[in-house]
Amino acid sequence: MTGQNKKAMLETFLREAAALLREASCAYAFTGAGVSTESGIPDFRSPTGLWSNPELMALATGDAFRRDPARFYTAFLPQWLKYREAAPNPAHRALAELEAFGRLGGVITQNIDGLHRKAGSRTVWEIHGHLRHLVCDDCRKTAPFEVATEALAQGALPPRCACGGVLRPDVVLFGEAMAPDFERALATLRRGCDLMLVVGSSLSVYPAASLVEFADELIIVNRDPTPYDHRAAVILRHSAGEVLPRLVAAVKAA
Ligand code: APR
Repeated sequence: MTGQNKKAMLETFLREAAALLREASCAYAFTGAGVSTESGIPDFRSPTGLWSNPELMALATGDAFRRDPARFYTAFLPQWLKYREAAPNPAHRALAELEAFGRLGGVITQNIDGLHRKAGSRTVWEIHGHLRHLVCDDCRKTAPFEVATEALAQGALPPRCACGGVLRPDVVLFGEAMAPDFERALATLRRGCDLMLVVGSSLSVYPAASLVEFADELIIVNRDPTPYDHRAAVILRHSAGEVLPRLVAAVKAA
């Protein structure tokens, strides 16, 4: 296919996706790590993703955390400190704009980087948790994330609660229960979702990916194929940071 044809096809798909977003009465975005890669945050299952290192993936479980919390923090904390410094990219801002424009009811995200909130999205369901604070594994009291940063600087990992318990990040590790926002997002979708805009997810992790089943129609913006492509009304096989601003412009142009 020539470059000209590819360009024309993208224009057509953008017009179709914009029409669906304009007509939808209860549309939501569902995002994964791919929406943050253009902010410098690696995803998990792309060839250069975090899980290309199986040892790292094996550490991302609740059991591995409890077995050796210092090793867990040594493996993930430096990466997370970069997440906390990262800036939203045009994809995050485009979703915030669609919400402000009344075309999205909010963003359901698997990401813990907080970039949707930073970009101005007001309704964000963080179904795998976030990095805003730590929680004590014993007394469940919260503590500022900086306690972990200080423990790292002092070579005193894992960070500990005043009660002596280990402080853990408020994120969902493999094999653990979902964050409270998962049930909140589910309840919202159950009340109706005529369109879901999926951005940057392999849709391969459950129960998160099951939320996509509640949408009457799907638009998928993803560099790689997903198991839900056959159900999508429109697939934009492009970088989110490139196409989402164009999608917003197309929605507004009507
Ligand atoms: N634009 C569009 N798509 C992108 C971009 C981009 N800039 N960058 C990456 N992608 C796509 C990749 O092609 C990939 O299919 O985003 C997808 C990211 O998929 P994963 O790496 O599997 O990330 P995600 O779907 O969020 O994983 C879900 O798995 O390990 C757990 O808790 C972790 O929340 C994560 C969950």
